Amino acid sequence: MRQTAQLLLLALGSSIATASASNKRGLVFVPNEQWPQDSQIWVKPGTDLTWYYNYKMTPAPSFADVPQDKFEFVPMMWGKVDGTTFLDSVNQQLDGGRNISHVLGFNEPDGAVSGGSNLDPESAAQIWVTNMEPLAKRGVKLGMPAVTGSDRGVKWTQNFATECAKVANKNCTFDFLPIHFYGSFEGLASHMGSLSASFPNVTQWITEYNWDNQDLSTTQSFFNTTCEYFDRLDSVARYSYFGSFRSKVSNVGPNAVMLNNDGELTDIGSWYLGGSATGVNPQSAAGKSGASVLAAVAAAGIVGAVLASF
Ligand SMILES: *[C@@H]1O[C@H](CO)[C@@H](O)[C@H](O)[C@H]1NC(C)=O
Ligand SMILES: *[C@@H]1O[C@H](CO)[C@@H](O)[C@H](O)[C@H]1NC(C)=O
Ligand SMILES: *[C@@H]1O[C@H](CO)[C@@H](O)[C@H](O)[C@H]1NC(C)=O
Ligand SMILES: *[C@@H]1O[C@H](CO)[C@@H](O)[C@H](O)[C@H]1NC(C)=O
Repeated sequence: MRQTAQLLLLALGSSIATASASNKRGLVFVPNEQWPQDSQIWVKPGTDLTWYYNYKMTPAPSFADVPQDKFEFVPMMWGKVDGTTFLDSVNQQLDGGRNISHVLGFNEPDGAVSGGSNLDPESAAQIWVTNMEPLAKRGVKLGMPAVTGSDRGVKWTQNFATECAKVANKNCTFDFLPIHFYGSFEGLASHMGSLSASFPNVTQWITEYNWDNQDLSTTQSFFNTTCEYFDRLDSVARYSYFGSFRSKVSNVGPNAVMLNNDGELTDIGSWYLGGSATGVNPQSAAGKSGASVLAAVAAAGIVGAVLASF
């Protein structure tokens, strides 16, 4: 009996943990210069986000004054760099007192479109050994290149690991594997599984993901299922949902976003930050969300009452 009660408590404890805050969550920061005020939403006190990246080697000006232990900046070596440009930048930040503990490798080097950095594995290996390996000696954890969520991407990463070992004369240091994926939950889970098979025991970070161009309820179920899955898996250390922008500038469809067209948090945006549903339709503009629906209902009621009195 006693044991049963304890098991029940354990089960209860873990379901509570799943439903509440996650310390794995971060921000893929995609600012839009038309609405600089949106940036502050992500660093309001009480939000769940513990870290961010901005596809750059230096912090976003909006968050430059936020200390690392509040909102950890993770530099990225986006693509080809000259000489030791990336290494020098991170060293300089470390020497200046910014506690950089993780860095990210190339962004979609296997792709030439939609933000891909288009590098062959051989060149990438040279740049990696010059810029990344010395950081491992300083205790910085290295994230492998984040390829597109395709078989071509997996192949690219395997070739890269082989080339890197040739250049370095030893296996290169890969502390974690960043993953990008756009599609259903089943597709994502299967992709993560095949990467675990290729790179066993390398911790995964899901640094860009979404099910683009779906209706709102499909998008919300996908969001819930993936968060729950990532929070539960020990093999996933961190994740960042791709959607920190307004609906009308979205390149992943109008419903996948965390902000509506007036910069208000959608349900997904609020859930991601650890809050409750806002009822804000992603595609709504100023005043077109919950408030105006209520106003419309009230107006209809008045019209009804007026009509009834005649
Ligand atoms: C630097 O960050 C790492 C990882 O978050 C942490 O473990 C470590 O204690 C931090 N070091 C300092 C000096 O704050
Ligand atoms: C290097 O990595 C390969 C797999 O990529 C592995 O088979 C091999 O044992 C590793 N070598 C060392 C010295 O760890
Ligand atoms: C991966 O981890 C499992 C469990 O800890 C261990 O049995 C296995 O040997 C590891 N595999 C590699 C390739 O390190
Ligand atoms: C998603 O989760 C929230 C609670 O976090 C819940 O209110 C909502 O109904 C869920 N939506 C779907 C479609 O599963």
